[in-house]
Amino acid sequence: MKNLVILISGRGSNMQAIVNAQIAGAHIAAVISNRPDAAGLAWAAERGIQTAVLDHKQFADRERFDQALAELIDGYAPDLVVLAGFMRILTAAFVQRYENRLINMHPSLLPAFTGLHTHQRAIDEGVKLAGCTVHFVTAELDHGPMIAQAAVPVLDNDSADTLAARILVQEHQLYPQAVAWFVADQLQVVDGKVKNAAAANPEVFLRAPSTAS
Ligand code: GAR
Repeated sequence: MKNLVILISGRGSNMQAIVNAQIAGAHIAAVISNRPDAAGLAWAAERGIQTAVLDHKQFADRERFDQALAELIDGYAPDLVVLAGFMRILTAAFVQRYENRLINMHPSLLPAFTGLHTHQRAIDEGVKLAGCTVHFVTAELDHGPMIAQAAVPVLDNDSADTLAARILVQEHQLYPQAVAWFVADQLQVVDGKVKNAAAANPEVFLRAPSTAS
């Protein structure tokens, strides 16, 4: 059994997708939020999952918050730390501590559109494909070895909200799949790239626009 600690900042729909997937061999040890009012906390608590809050506003700087966060996380002996809408930039020390066992979902086809407002920026650029990426986290923001991506079309009449909703459907499928691969020891980082023993065929990583909702 592998212990998962999931970090959220808000609604936590990706966290819910991972919990609901009931991944064999995965134990959700805790859901932790940096925001006391994160809606996902109540959802997790109602399901008997341990929850904790570490309010970043109570800390003088990023280093001290990340240190306290790491101590809290380590109390749950995690094999994998899952960032699920955790809207904090993490220090290099934090990222290094969890090297190759810290993953993130980002709502763009990385390396395009790192950072915030990804959906609006994709629309403004006029790209025809958008999507999401699950990746191991490295010190550089929204970079790191990519585990899986899903692509969706950008439609002429899309707003940031409609595009985000289309991508979110894919996030909810992709993230549990990526966690399941990790839990089953299928992922290996070699020369900065992910080798996936479970999915040698790259088609597995692409959800074609025609099948996207
Ligand atoms: C998701 O779309 C996720 O990809 C994004 O925030 C949303 C969180 O939704 N994450 C980032 O932008 C990280 N940089 P959720 O709380 O419902 O999972």
